Amino acid sequence: MPLTLTPWHDPPPLLDLKSDEVHLWRFPLCCSSSLEHLLDEQELQRAKRLRSPDKGRALVVARARLRQILSGYLGREPQSLRFSYGPAGKPALVGLIDSLSFNLAHSGNWGVCAVVGRGEVGVDVETINPRLDYAKLAQKFFSETENQWLRACPEPRRLRCFYRIWTRKEAWLKGKGGGFSDPDQDIGLAHLAGSCTSDGRWWLRSFPLSRHSLAALALSQEFSLVQRWNAWPLSG
Ligand SMILES: CC(C)(COP(=O)(O)OP(=O)(O)OC[C@H]1O[C@@H](n2cnc3c(N)ncnc32)[C@H](O)[C@@H]1OP(=O)(O)O)[C@@H](O)C(=O)NCCC(=O)NCCS
Repeated sequence: MPLTLTPWHDPPPLLDLKSDEVHLWRFPLCCSSSLEHLLDEQELQRAKRLRSPDKGRALVVARARLRQILSGYLGREPQSLRFSYGPAGKPALVGLIDSLSFNLAHSGNWGVCAVVGRGEVGVDVETINPRLDYAKLAQKFFSETENQWLRACPEPRRLRCFYRIWTRKEAWLKGKGGGFSDPDQDIGLAHLAGSCTSDGRWWLRSFPLSRHSLAALALSQEFSLVQRWNAWPLSG
C-alpha cells in the first residue's frame, strides 16, 4: 500500500491520531520566547553542557516543541511529561500511554517530530550541504552495497542520493532505538531506490522538510497516510 503524504498544513484544535496515520510535525528551531521552564533539569543540563550557545538554544526549542506536541495528544501540561531513555538514548514517555511512540530530529533551522499510535518510529533530517565531501563519508559509514548503489547514481544526482541513504539509515537506526555501534547497519537493497520502500519489516519514506533539507521516516508497521503538520506557534 502506498504511504501518502499530505501537504504541510495547520493542525486541528483537537488532535485525532487514527490507527492508519502517522503524524509528522515540523517547526523552526528559532524562538524569541523563553522556553526553559518547559524543560526538566536533565534537559536543561544537557543544553548547558553544549559548547555552542546556538546548539544549546536549538536543543531547548526542540525539547520544548516535543513536549508541546506530545501534550496535544495527552491533554497534559508540557512540563508535566516525563521521559525515559533506551540503552542508546532513545527517549520514550514514562507511564501515561504505552501506545504513543515518537521520535525527534533536528538539523540547521528545522526540527521534526514523528508520532504514531502503534509500532516503532524513527525520523531524521539533514540540511543539504552542496560542498560536503560525501564520498568520504559514504566510505566510512555506508555498506559496500550502499556505496555501489551510490556510485551508480548519475553524478548530478549523487549528492541527493547520498542524503537519501544517510537520512534513511539514521531514521531506521533511530526507529530500532539502536546506536551506530549496532552490527546490523545495512538498510538493504530494498530500501535504496524509490521515495517509499518496504522490505516487509520496515517502511521507509523520504520527504523534503524545507527547501534545503531532506528528511526520512522509518516505520516498523504499515500505515497509509502521513499527516504533515506545521507546529502551532510557541509562546513562552
Ligand atoms: C544519537 C543519534 C540519534 C544522534 O543523531 P543526530 O543526527 O546527531 O541527531 P538527530 O537530530 O537525528 O536526533 C536527535 C534526537 O534523536 C533522539 N535520540 C537520541 N538517541 C536516540 C536513539 N538511540 N534512537 C532514536 N532516537 C534517539 C533524541 O530525541 C534526540 O534529540 P534531543 O537530543 O533533542 O533529545 C545518532 O543517530 C547518532 O549518533 N548519529 C551520529 C551520526 C552518524 O554517525 N551517522 C552515520 C550513518 S548514516
